[in-house]
Amino acid sequence: MKKLRIGLFGFGVVGEGIYRVLTEKSNLNCEIARVCIKNPEKKRNAPAHLFTTDHASILDDASINVVVELIDDSDAAFQLVKRALTSGKAVVSANKKMIAEHHAELIALQEKHQTSFLYEASVCGSIPILRNLEEYFDNDLLQHVTGIVNGSTNYILTQMCQQDVPFDESLKAAQQNGFAESNPTLDVEGIDAAYKLSIICLHAFGKLVNADSILRKGIGSIKPIDLKFAKEKGLAIKLIASTHNNEEGLSASVLPTFITEGKTLSRVDNEYNGLLIGSTLADEQFLYGKGAGRYPTSSAVLSDISALRYDYKYEFRKGQQRTQPRTDGFGRFYVSFQKNEPIDLGLFDTIEEQYTNHEMAYVVGTIRFSELYASDVWQQQDVSLIAISE
Ligand code: HSE
Repeated sequence: MKKLRIGLFGFGVVGEGIYRVLTEKSNLNCEIARVCIKNPEKKRNAPAHLFTTDHASILDDASINVVVELIDDSDAAFQLVKRALTSGKAVVSANKKMIAEHHAELIALQEKHQTSFLYEASVCGSIPILRNLEEYFDNDLLQHVTGIVNGSTNYILTQMCQQDVPFDESLKAAQQNGFAESNPTLDVEGIDAAYKLSIICLHAFGKLVNADSILRKGIGSIKPIDLKFAKEKGLAIKLIASTHNNEEGLSASVLPTFITEGKTLSRVDNEYNGLLIGSTLADEQFLYGKGAGRYPTSSAVLSDISALRYDYKYEFRKGQQRTQPRTDGFGRFYVSFQKNEPIDLGLFDTIEEQYTNHEMAYVVGTIRFSELYASDVWQQQDVSLIAISE
């Protein structure tokens, strides 16, 4: 097995987790040669001689053949990953924002410099979704990937729906547990989920989808009236990322969704993630595991490091076709809003239920996706839009 000398960037929640696992337990024939950090004043639980603040002491060291990038700043991460790949080092990263924003360029660098760029930890923490999609699920047979890809929002929704914990308190707990992004808006608004879905689209269907073009609403607008509706109707609320692909095109969305209690995804709670993979012959399969936190994320990083010992790389056999998600078709939605700030009901194609109390109102019905794209319900903090799963 190839010997790996690792330069680690970042010693935060996951960086330190990887350091611990590799120094205390692993027999992977690899060593952490150097750790690059931003703040040299901070006390670290590792020998001082390992640490540096100088990127070049890793990037220019020819004896280091693997860079593990686990820093928070995605722009800085992109610069150093580019340099590492260009100098022929293999790279492992968990930085979904950087990958989603620069996917094509990073893959091209991997090809040009005949090295490996692996990032299993960037999508659903400990669940091995990318390698499964890449190696096992054939493009022609795969129909959809649908699931819960953000641990923080799932944790918050579980606490709100099942324990009646208010939003702010649940978010704080998610932050304390190390699930949330340093800017939790990325979690709450579904942006983190959109980055992950964009990465899934490429490995599932060979389609490069810009995260900004994904139909997206987060969980920041969910209010007591929505929780009450869910409880009364026996529904769970989950932030669902979903992509479907067929001859007519690819759809991609991240939306709060009502799911009938008892259905598979309704049972994925707290920081757990779960993915349903739909394929023509196998019907549906389910992957479940922890999607955030120190050790679950470290587990995926470790698996990538391990795969580098035999020079594993993603081959992208399904292609890399730049694609705009389709906007045709209908969906069933629940929309709630302040009674004195009503939405334009023209948004709905058909209405099946309406309710108003002294303060709030909601409407249930079908909406054309094209109308939804064109409307401003995404931006309105007071308007809650929840898809209804079939
Ligand atoms: N903030 C992310 C989440 C971390 O909650 O899922 C893992 O990607």
